[in-house]
This record gives sequence, C-alpha cells and structure tokens, in this order.
Amino acid sequence: MKIGITGVAGFIGSHLADALLERGHSVIGLDNLSMGYLRNIEHLKGRSDFVFHEADVRDLEGMREAFREADCIVHLAAYKIPRYGKAIDTLEINSIGGKNVLELGRDGNRRIIIASTSDIYGKNPNLPFSEDSDSVIGPTTVPRWSYAVSKLFDEHMAMAYQSSYGVPVTILRFFGSYGPRQHLTWWGGPQSVFIGAMFKDEPIEIHGDGTQTRSFTYISDLVDGIARATEYDKDPAIIFNLGNTHEVTILELAKLVHELYTPSRELKLKIVPYASIGGKYEDVLRRIPDITRARTLLGFNPCVDLREGLVKTIAWQKKMMEGLAT
Ligand SMILES: NC(=O)c1ccc[n+]([C@@H]2O[C@H](COP(=O)([O-])OP(=O)(O)OC[C@H]3O[C@@H](n4cnc5c(N)ncnc54)[C@H](O)[C@@H]3O)[C@@H](O)[C@H]2O)c1
Repeated sequence: MKIGITGVAGFIGSHLADALLERGHSVIGLDNLSMGYLRNIEHLKGRSDFVFHEADVRDLEGMREAFREADCIVHLAAYKIPRYGKAIDTLEINSIGGKNVLELGRDGNRRIIIASTSDIYGKNPNLPFSEDSDSVIGPTTVPRWSYAVSKLFDEHMAMAYQSSYGVPVTILRFFGSYGPRQHLTWWGGPQSVFIGAMFKDEPIEIHGDGTQTRSFTYISDLVDGIARATEYDKDPAIIFNLGNTHEVTILELAKLVHELYTPSRELKLKIVPYASIGGKYEDVLRRIPDITRARTLLGFNPCVDLREGLVKTIAWQKKMMEGLAT
C-alpha cells in the first residue's frame, strides 16, 4: 500500500515510516517540523518509496495535494498536554487537523487511522482500561484536560465520518511510548526528563508522591501495532488500545533509570507537590491498558521489557546530549 503519515518527522511517525517501509509499503510523509526534526527521517532521503511534504495539517488543500495517492492515512501530527500553557495550540491543531484528515478519507474513500491517547480514560478508577471504558475527564478550568478533550473530539468526529459518509476509520489509543528519537524535554515523557537529569547530575524531579503509575511501551512494539492496524480492514469503525500492560510507578521508573544510568552515584530525588506546579494541575493516578482486542485481532504482542528498552533509550539519549553539549 501507499500509506500517508502526518507527523512523520516526530518520534512515533519516523519509526512508523521505518516499520512500514520494512514491511514493503511505500510512505508519503507530512510534517510542519514544529516539534519534529528532519534528522529523524534523514536516513530515508533519496528512497523511491518515501516522499516528504513540509505542510501543516490545518491546511486542507496542502494535505489533499500531498496525500492524493495514499491508500490510507495514519494521523499522528498533534500537540500534546499543555503542561506549561498553550492549550490553544492543542485544541486548534488537534481538532482542525483531525477534521481535515477525515475529509481526505471522504475524498478518497480511504481508511483514516487516528492516533488517540490513554489520557482520554482520564481519572477512571476502573482498571485496566478496555476500549469501551468510560472517559472521566476533570474540570474545564484545568488546562491539561484540553488534550484528552481534543483527542475525544477527533474520536467522535471519526465515528461521525464513518456513520455519515462511510469513511472507514480506526482509532488507536497509545499508552506512553519511549525510545530513541524521543524528545529530550518533558514533551518526550518522564523517562526522557529523568535521563536528562542523570546526564546533568541534577536531582530527578518527581511530581506528586511518585506512586502514580504508567505503562511504558517501547517504540518498536508500538509501531508494530500501528503497522498491523494499517493492514487490518475487517471493520468500518474500530478502536484499539496499544500499550504495554506492565504497570510501573513513577518512583520505580526513576530508580530504574538511575540504576541503569549510573548506579555508583547517589540517587537524588526532588519531590515536587502538585500544588506547587503552576496553574491548576491534575494527574492521572493509575493507567493500565487491556489489550485483548489488539492481541486477538491484530496479533499485537508487546515484548520489549522496560529494562531492555531503557538501556537502548539511555544509550541513545546520552549520545544525543553529549552531541548537544559539545
Ligand atoms: N509518544 C507517546 O507516548 C504518545 C502517547 C499517546 C498518544 N500519542 C499521540 O501520538 C502522536 C505522535 O506523538 P509523538 O510522540 O510522535 O509526538 P511528536 O511531537 O514527536 O510528533 C508529532 C509530529 O507532528 C508534527 N506536527 C505538529 N503540529 C503539526 C501541524 N499543525 N501540521 C503538521 N505537523 C505537525 C510535529 O512537528 C511532530 O513531528 C500524537 O498524536 C500524540 O498525541 C503519543
């Protein structure tokens, strides 16, 4: 197939391009390079089965032009949780971009695969989260929820495009991914910040008391699941959780990063109470996916354990940071 990817120069997009090309597909990539890097797709330059368009997902005509020949499109371009402001970018880019990409589904009768997030389960206390679990979102006055709301808007829009216009849609809810090419800041997730702190010999900052949990999915496992979803065409509208089911506390993650990075140095932690984080902030206390559907229908089988994935991620990030420091 010819598969379109929005956000191709980002962390997940660039790995997905590699995985799809490896499976024999060709890839049409699009990115506005606001949060992604050409270096992530540099190695694909010159290949006849890969093209790159610098364009914005808010520009429908630019997208139409780029994806004219695509058989399906994986929509990854997005803005994430507005932890330090900028909820407007999150809301605008995610809602307009999502609607535009669905329009392309309507144009070409092609499947649209929308990247969503575990954050849409919000504060739901009933674990693990299955695809039919409730979304329990906090108050509108807390900006972090704008991310989940923008992704829920995309999900509902996808369902509506399927029922109103017959566009085949797949919604993929990712649970925290990590690995080489992740952002070096908080944008890349807690592991990225923790590795950065070890590099600079600074204390690892723990927000809250560190007992909040996450499941961390190594990038090769995640993109294997996404690639399998591009090849699954049996249902006109389907949702899949894609994530690792191993639950880890943030404190355990910090200790593991420290142990793998430099066990001989003393572990320094700085506890940052939620109340001292600027503005109103709410965290999700526990997060574990139920991946029965993806296992059964896609053959998705995340197999890289956290220790193994972190060893590779730390080696990559160390090299990147050494390069930036010189
Ligand atoms: N990384 C994770 O753990 C995770 C977890 C849940 C969901 N997701 C979702 O997966 C997708 C990819 O995430 P990622 O971690 O690779 O993020 P990323 O920031 O590394 O990649 C996103 C890419 O989209 C591009 N982009 C942003 N706005 C754009 C616009 N207006 N037009 C064109 N391109 C634009 C950026 O330049 C970047 O290259 C996102 O939709 C994100 O919400 C990621």
